[in-house]
Amino acid sequence: MPAHQSGRSVFDLGTYLDAASQAVDRTLDRALPRATRKPATIHKAMRYSLFAGGKRMRPALCLAASEACGGEWAGALASAAAVECIHTYSLIHDDLPAMDNDDFRRGKPTNHKVFGEGVAILAGDALLTIAFEILAETPISKRYPLKTQLTELTQTAGSLQLIAGQVADLEGEGKRLSQTDLRFIHERKTSALLCTSVRLGGMSANCSPTQLESLTTFGYNVGLAFQVIDDILDVTQSTEKLGKTAGKDTAAQKATYPAIVGLEKSRKIAQQLTDKAFSALGAFKGKATALEAIADYLLKRDH
Ligand code: IPE
Ligand code: IPE
Ligand code: MG
Ligand code: MG
Ligand code: MG
Repeated sequence: MPAHQSGRSVFDLGTYLDAASQAVDRTLDRALPRATRKPATIHKAMRYSLFAGGKRMRPALCLAASEACGGEWAGALASAAAVECIHTYSLIHDDLPAMDNDDFRRGKPTNHKVFGEGVAILAGDALLTIAFEILAETPISKRYPLKTQLTELTQTAGSLQLIAGQVADLEGEGKRLSQTDLRFIHERKTSALLCTSVRLGGMSANCSPTQLESLTTFGYNVGLAFQVIDDILDVTQSTEKLGKTAGKDTAAQKATYPAIVGLEKSRKIAQQLTDKAFSALGAFKGKATALEAIADYLLKRDH
């Protein structure tokens, strides 16, 4: 567990991430209809994937970004919960037989394995929709009206970003893509939402335009590194460790960094992207300890 020095006290990332997850889970639990609410199947299915044990990295980045800009967690929790709902929806749909056809996710059978494809599609739809309802409750930020924040999230989730990446990912199966094509996919399917998580955190703290620019550079690069590492882990880790079936990218002939440039170069690229992310944090002085620690953890993670 990396322990970073923050002022006089030692920063413990494990404790930080646990606290962030708990705060976000409370927000999500309050925002979602109860599992017994009619029709119970859909609410059970939504909660099944949402509370299956994800790492909650996007919410943690959101809270840490707000902190870096002088904000309190309370002001960023709506954004943090909203991005996690979008992320979880994207995973439920990503796992469907028509997409990556995965049986395991977050250490459990995938949503469609438990509830059937119809309900899994609808659970994804419902999580996507509720994300905007949750974000709509975010406290007022002077520089960033609700419209600005909602537009940010809709564009990130839409057909020019996350969905564009997923489409290009599917269309890239079995093809030998260039590094530029692969970068196009990663920017959209993964980096866009990580970047928006960080940016919404900053906005919730009424960050300055310069701070927002730094957060954007940080989020973009951390987001790219995140997917390179995800591609690496698919070939280097076990199903048990990952909580999702290992080796699936090779089996599905996915275009990935290890497939295109090899493992060693992939690791180097992830390191370079993380370095770029770090260098964007200079302006925050001592306040970006958590953001730095998360970026470092994301590079070194094993699941
Ligand atoms: C997996 O994301 C999907 C990608 C974008 C690579 P995470 O690795 O953050 O998955 P959870 O949320 O911890 O399950
Ligand atoms: C998923 O990428 C990206 C989104 C869900 C938007 P992957 O297909 O690589 O994610 P995993 O490996 O299934 O988690
Ligand atoms: Mg996929
Ligand atoms: Mg997948
Ligand atoms: Mg993957």
